[in-house]
Amino acid sequence: MATHAGGLKDGLKGGLTTGAAVRIEGLVRAFGDRRVLDALDLTVAPGEFVALIGRSGSGKSTLLRVLAGIDHDVTGYQRLDAPENVSVVFQDARLLPWKRLLENVTLGLDGPDATRRGRTALAEVGLAGRERAWPVELSGGEQQRVALARSLVREPELLLADEPFGALDALTRIRMHALLRRLCEAHRPAVLLVTHDVDEAIALADRVLVLDAGRIAADLPITLPAPRAPGSPAYAALRADLLARLGVDVEPADADGPDADRGGVEPAEGGTP
Ligand SMILES: Nc1ncnc2c1ncn2[C@@H]1O[C@H](COP(=O)(O)OP(=O)(O)O)[C@@H](O)[C@H]1O
Ligand SMILES: [Mg+2]
Repeated sequence: MATHAGGLKDGLKGGLTTGAAVRIEGLVRAFGDRRVLDALDLTVAPGEFVALIGRSGSGKSTLLRVLAGIDHDVTGYQRLDAPENVSVVFQDARLLPWKRLLENVTLGLDGPDATRRGRTALAEVGLAGRERAWPVELSGGEQQRVALARSLVREPELLLADEPFGALDALTRIRMHALLRRLCEAHRPAVLLVTHDVDEAIALADRVLVLDAGRIAADLPITLPAPRAPGSPAYAALRADLLARLGVDVEPADADGPDADRGGVEPAEGGTP
């Protein structure tokens, strides 16, 4: 949905020339004298699925807004390359209530085949036949499916998702994980998924980044074999490691026991590490 605009657009150097979908060097974003992003470096390869986790208030949404081109007050950077063709999905679907589903998906889409592409996208997210429904007739999960269709119908080079499943119930969330993986395998955008759910990050991503103190504090490739079922020692160790980096200590022996913590813990802002 979002396109780069305003002052930031002038500063973008064009991701395609670098061989990466995203290349950031030395990004600083301050609010007042507080540097939320402080000389941050980040590279995402074309087609790579990267999850970004971090405490509440660590700057995850701030980073996504910069990449979406909707932050016009970036403090500074040495390099800030991102594609022109970026789509964003938020926690709420943000559908226009006065437009039917198909129109929501094709909104702003050019070309004579926009309607056909919109129908295909709705079918891809399991909503064939609902083209003429109104957003209010849909469940929260269905609305997020429409949001995914709307973002992918544009064949973005980069998909930015800011806790897209955070408001959904656990069962719907698991279904959405499978759908998102399928869609990304079909369309191959680079993905930067913000989540506070460690299990979601492990389930979906090729690589998990931890944002802390304004920088990428950890960069961990996920090499677990598919399916990444919770319960294996390797899964439990990775999960405990990621939670520890968020300031949540998990006893490895308890990691999948009856009192296991939820992977979705988001430590309070300013909590002790
Ligand atoms: N427009 C703004 N004005 C002032 N402070 C902001 C603004 N946007 C974000 N912040 C601050 O920047 C920090 C990071 O916010 P955010 O990126 O939303 O965190 P996260 O998404 O990781 O929870 C927070 O302390 C937040 O209060
Ligand atoms: Mg946020």
